[in-house]
Amino acid sequence: MTIQTKDNKKVFLKRLQPCDFDKLTEFLQHLQPETTRRFGPHGFDKQTITELFENDGAHIGYIALDAETLEVIAYSIIKIGFLEHDASRLCTYGLTLDAKTDCTFAPSVADKWQSLGVGNSLFQFALYDLKAHSIKKVILWGGVQCCNTRAVNYYLKNGFKIMGQFQYNGENFDMVLDIEG
Ligand SMILES: CC(C)(COP(=O)(O)OP(=O)(O)OC[C@H]1O[C@@H](n2cnc3c(N)ncnc32)[C@H](O)[C@@H]1OP(=O)(O)O)[C@@H](O)C(=O)NCCC(=O)NCCS
Repeated sequence: MTIQTKDNKKVFLKRLQPCDFDKLTEFLQHLQPETTRRFGPHGFDKQTITELFENDGAHIGYIALDAETLEVIAYSIIKIGFLEHDASRLCTYGLTLDAKTDCTFAPSVADKWQSLGVGNSLFQFALYDLKAHSIKKVILWGGVQCCNTRAVNYYLKNGFKIMGQFQYNGENFDMVLDIEG
């Protein structure tokens, strides 16, 4: 799928495939500290990426590519189900967790491409795909720092609701999107 950014650049959106692993590794390794302080669901080396996406079938990646250079400029990871170590906290909000119809989500956009609409478009692209896989609920991967205003706005804009707050390196929100709601 092709989209246009707010500053009129052409971007391709696609599901991550093995042929993209090198480009994705490069993208992750060039993220600025400002972004890696907020996004770190897994290691940024090629071996980790290969293990996550090639071997266990429980993860789906989505990427955005600059149509001019074909470099990866945004990436989102989806884990089917929920994170075991977050489960008890999530249940305190009255959520019923389901390993088959829940998924857990973490997004990142390259620093110079942020706030241009790429994050929104990549999430909507992923959502369309996830609905086709009978996913009913999207949970944030480890929540979001309350002070990360851009990300909190981004989740609210995409229909996520704040379920509760917890402390881990500062204050964080747990946010969930109910796809059926
Ligand atoms: C959070 C992130 C994924 C959002 O993607 P993005 O491409 O920058 O966001 P978009 O341009 O698609 O904007 C989506 C919404 O986010 C909000 N937003 C975007 N930029 C913003 C800014 N500078 N200030 C406040 N809100 C902002 C707005 O609500 C916007 O909707 P609008 O364009 O209709 O106003 C991206 O900025 C990012 O990777 N940040 C660093 C890593 C991170 O924080 N990841 C999340 C960890 S929980």
